[in-house]
Amino acid sequence: MDRKIIVTGGCGYVGSHIVVQLIENQFEVLILDNLSNSSEASLDRIKQITGKRPLFIKVDLSDRAAMAKIFEQHNDALAVIHLAALKAVGESIEIPLKYYYNNLNCLLNTLNSQIENGINKFVFSSSATVYGSPDELPITEKSNTKRPFSPYGNSKRIGEEIIEDLCKIKCDFSSISLRYFNPIGAHESGIIGELPKGVPNNLMPYITQTAAGIRDKLMVFGGDYPTHDGTAIRDYVHVMDLAQAHIDALNRLLNEEQDTPYETFNLGSTKGYSVLEMIQTFEAVSKVKLNYEITERRAGDITELYASTKLAEEKLGWKAERNIDEMIRSSWEWEQNLRSEKE
Ligand code: UFG
Repeated sequence: MDRKIIVTGGCGYVGSHIVVQLIENQFEVLILDNLSNSSEASLDRIKQITGKRPLFIKVDLSDRAAMAKIFEQHNDALAVIHLAALKAVGESIEIPLKYYYNNLNCLLNTLNSQIENGINKFVFSSSATVYGSPDELPITEKSNTKRPFSPYGNSKRIGEEIIEDLCKIKCDFSSISLRYFNPIGAHESGIIGELPKGVPNNLMPYITQTAAGIRDKLMVFGGDYPTHDGTAIRDYVHVMDLAQAHIDALNRLLNEEQDTPYETFNLGSTKGYSVLEMIQTFEAVSKVKLNYEITERRAGDITELYASTKLAEEKLGWKAERNIDEMIRSSWEWEQNLRSEKE
């Protein structure tokens, strides 16, 4: 029997790693994606790893009529994993309406279309940004959520609230929101990984592109934070571990093991690394010297973030397995493979 799962944003960085693991777990996958920050090449790459090319429909998820039609045709799906969203924090501050319009309409259309077709399980790609500047470390799911600094972050927080409201009134609808800390790394084959369009916003692709000679210099945003070396601390989590958590969350939903219809889980490694530690680890792992300079802080950045994932461990049986060296090594291998493909 087919066990079909709809993955929105499945051609993207995190999405493609989830799709690989879904296929390896004998699920049939339908990807919905507008390819705004990804490409159809992901489908061939997924096939290269798994031997199977997932079903794919190119669609703008904010098109309500198109979404209604697709879900009608695929009403045999068991669940939806929803990742499709715009995610550039800085850009969202410049053009907030674009972010609210896109991220909320994509979410609402997905929820509406799936419910109309009796698909009542939903995994939501959320973010640690919902905690704003945290009151306590490590951050647990009980820590206060706050209005995030950016419209991108706020669209995730509002998204969670919409889903929670829906779970309250519609007793057969259940959902899990997964709050990602900082996903980095790539599939061990080096065949899929993060490939941002244009100049990267995030640290890891900026590091690997600088090392590969595509960027001149890495700017370290802020050297005066109250941390041991003055740079900001984040909880980096391997994208393969993150993908595994989606399989675990999906199984919890499908097996109806939830304590309440709406649950949230932190996904991080539980360890904090500063920007300078990331640079040093990269240099040690890759044997490449990085050109970098410490500059002004980036607006909206928080000093320190790291997760407690005890709840995910207890309820999902999930824990991040891969260490920082593996994360950085796989990111670098992916970057090098990309460059050798292009030569
Ligand atoms: N950084 C630099 N130079 C760069 C890029 C980043 O020094 O060129 C620093 C940042 O200032 C920060 C750290 O590296 O201290 C990590 O920055 P990222 O941009 O990689 O990640 P963020 O922690 O800012 O944001 C990430 C996700 C968001 C999410 C947020 C939640 O990108 O989607 O985590 O905490 F909202």
